[in-house]
Amino acid sequence: MTTMESLIGLVNRIQRACTVLGDYGGGTGDNAFNSLWEALPTVAVVGGQSSGKSSVLESIVGRDFLPRGSGIVTRRPLVLQLHKTEEATEEYAEFLHLPKRQFTDFALVRKEIQDETDRITGKSKQISPVPIHLSIFSPNVVNLTLVDLPGLTKVAVEGQPETIVEDIESMVRTYVDKPNCIILAISPANQDIATSDAIKLAKEVDPTGERTFGVLTKLDLMDKGTNALDVLEGRSYRLQHPWVGIVNRSQADINRNADMMLARRKERDYFDTSPDYGHLASKMGSEYLAKLLSKHLESVIRSRIPSILSLINKSIDELERELDKMGRPVAVDAGAQLYTILEMCRAFDKVFKEHLD
Ligand code: GDP
Ligand code: NA
Ligand code: MG
Repeated sequence: MTTMESLIGLVNRIQRACTVLGDYGGGTGDNAFNSLWEALPTVAVVGGQSSGKSSVLESIVGRDFLPRGSGIVTRRPLVLQLHKTEEATEEYAEFLHLPKRQFTDFALVRKEIQDETDRITGKSKQISPVPIHLSIFSPNVVNLTLVDLPGLTKVAVEGQPETIVEDIESMVRTYVDKPNCIILAISPANQDIATSDAIKLAKEVDPTGERTFGVLTKLDLMDKGTNALDVLEGRSYRLQHPWVGIVNRSQADINRNADMMLARRKERDYFDTSPDYGHLASKMGSEYLAKLLSKHLESVIRSRIPSILSLINKSIDELERELDKMGRPVAVDAGAQLYTILEMCRAFDKVFKEHLD
């Protein structure tokens, strides 16, 4: 494992520790761990309903595991942590709320996301800001943390409160407003980019485009005789990072259970043989996007090490004080949990300092 890769792994672990401590602290939001959580870079997936968000995530992972269907399917944020493992190891998934269970059947991962969503929101079409944390360990992924969010929409449907449109937008904003949030803005190529919900929001919170990655899906669904070169070459809407075009599985592919790895290859072929996009082929597709994001996330983390370190030290101090107040319990649950987190913080502190050189 390279030095760079392990940095993302480390931040993954701090993020999980922050979540656990958030529960412990009752989530009042005013501790060093919350500031630490705020300071950690994340990648948030943003776009209108059916723009292809879930499909892009699945292509990045190379597995079929997200609930799907029409309408609002993602109703809680899904924090997806990808961990690259050794070539020969088996792929598995693990939920933070089910720490003892390893999922090797990804159909069951999908079911658990659905069930866990319903556990908080009921079977209604309500949304909840409480995230689900899922880790995937696989030789076929890059180290990366992504947050899948409910799709932006324009109207409430049957059974939803009238406020749903604003509720979704404000939930998405709590992520993209953070200066440390990297925005993965998904727009479908078969709609005018000027009407893109993702770009509209990104433009507002990141006007210079320095933390927005524009992703154009559904290139294969454009009208014959048209192409997306104006968008992909940055003429329609300019961002600091290059746009990435994607071809995901169609609904027909999904219905017949088309293999994800095969879909990745078909996407590759699409660009390699495309008369329109051939000259951009090496910078298109979901595999390229995953590598681009991983590299970017690593460099952002690297640049933030000093500030993350100082927040970790603040967290350590806070934990020490908390433990003192509790009279340094040894076997009590809450105390034991704090000790574990304290140990983790110290380990991070040590490793981060090594990365500084
Ligand atoms: P989400 O609501 O943004 O998560 O969108 P989904 O990923 O669920 O995609 C919505 C629909 O568009 C599904 O039927 C997908 O199969 C289809 N779709 C997404 N991306 C593409 C693409 O690049 N090409 C084609 N042909 N269909 C796509
Ligand atoms: Na959808
Ligand atoms: Mg979705």
